[in-house]
Amino acid sequence: MKFTLKVWRQKNSQDNGQFETYHIEEIDNEMSFLEMMDVLNQQLIKDKKDPVAFDHDCREGICGMCSMVINGHPHGHQKATTTCQLHMRSFKDGDTIVIEPWRAKAFPVLRDLAVDRSALDHIIQAGGFISVNTGSAPEANSVPVPQDMAEMAMDAAECIGCGACVAACKNSSAMLFLSAKVSHLALLPQGKPERKKRVISMLKAHDDAGFGSCTNTGACEAYCPKSISITNIARLNREFLSAALSSEEAL
Ligand code: SF4
Ligand code: FES
Repeated sequence: MKFTLKVWRQKNSQDNGQFETYHIEEIDNEMSFLEMMDVLNQQLIKDKKDPVAFDHDCREGICGMCSMVINGHPHGHQKATTTCQLHMRSFKDGDTIVIEPWRAKAFPVLRDLAVDRSALDHIIQAGGFISVNTGSAPEANSVPVPQDMAEMAMDAAECIGCGACVAACKNSSAMLFLSAKVSHLALLPQGKPERKKRVISMLKAHDDAGFGSCTNTGACEAYCPKSISITNIARLNREFLSAALSSEEAL
């Protein structure tokens, strides 16, 4: 397969950046999108040009590091799929593919397609600890958890922290990410003691980082590679309201 790639090149967060066009050939249709990018970089290095910087790690849809807007879609056109799990067979031979970084005020471009997503880490840090005893695993039935609660908590825990929800949102809101993180602990007995303090301080960290507000467009859910539901945002709102009405920390 052969492709024309229009790739965003930007030296650092101060640089204006621009698209560069590359032509690439002999791409196997079984290659992943990142493997295709590896081939492009080998070609650039051979031509004594700077390779394209992009984030990746597991390449198995687990770590959340890969982050590219492909033809206007965060993680590409395939539903519930990370960039690393997207394959070239889902494109047509001869296609032109436009590749950009996540674009959001809270995600400054470090170089080319790599952005600084540490604002998401700051939200997690603001959530603090849970006060459960560590040590050997407790007997399975000592803390009963209703099955529906366990399943909702595990669904929320699938969030890999990639930030595609932010890139998809016209307000650059990280509410889907935040709601998944708040939900997976708030739904379990082990997460209940600190739930009020947690939601208040995580929401403050979200706003302080420069993420926007949620206006319920649903774009985040549509582009989330782990199909995190926006019902988590409704739960986040309930958690925050309940905490704010009964806690001095919200004042
Ligand atoms: S909610 Fe989905 S899109 Fe947002 S960070 Fe988590 S996995 Fe990525
Ligand atoms: S590289 Fe880990 S999820 Fe894509």
